[in-house]
Amino acid sequence: MKVAVSFLKSKFDNKETIDKINETDSDFLHVDVMDGNFVERKNFSFNEFKEWSKDNKKLLDVHLMVENPINYIFDYKKLKPEYITIHSEIDKNLDDLIDLIHSYNIKAGISIKPKTSIEGIEHILSKIDNVLIMSVDPGKGGQKFNPSVLYKIDVLRKLREENNYNYIISIDGGINNKTIDKVKDVDLVISGSYICESKDYQANINKLR
Ligand code: DX5
Ligand code: ZN
Repeated sequence: MKVAVSFLKSKFDNKETIDKINETDSDFLHVDVMDGNFVERKNFSFNEFKEWSKDNKKLLDVHLMVENPINYIFDYKKLKPEYITIHSEIDKNLDDLIDLIHSYNIKAGISIKPKTSIEGIEHILSKIDNVLIMSVDPGKGGQKFNPSVLYKIDVLRKLREENNYNYIISIDGGINNKTIDKVKDVDLVISGSYICESKDYQANINKLR
């Protein structure tokens, strides 16, 4: 199981947090982008992130919690991220957005909120590289893990096996040393406050692993 670290909620400022994540053996830096529309809060601009992540060596896992991803895709593709993930609930043509992400040779992910079912994304599972199961409502770090989403891991594993799909399954929200046991069957866990609010980032990553 791989580990991505989200710096959305941290004891330190963003630049310092990103630097500290770089000192660990985490597999990805998870970048939570919020637009103040799809989710209530708006956070940093692309230029701010670019500045803070100048020395970043981690692969980027960009999570776009935004209603209209096009301009964000144009920006973030410049950083050559491993994944760009958009939300299934937006009122946009997901197929076209996935094609756009792929046109830059970047892997495309689809994220589903806790209340969103898998049926709604079944038609695009064959062309995506990452299904991001949200185990909290998107919008802020430090929320409590919602176990009602766990069945989605099994369903997605089964669909992948039956159809030879290629996506990884990831989970985001409320992941810590207590909830990690419940999500052992995913390929990638995203953890934020559990790592970034601790004194020893690597020690907590080790606990997850
Ligand atoms: C939620 C974000 C998550 C979150 C993870 O809106 O997408 O990435 O910040 O943080 P924790 O682990 O604190 O829930
Ligand atoms: Zn996220």
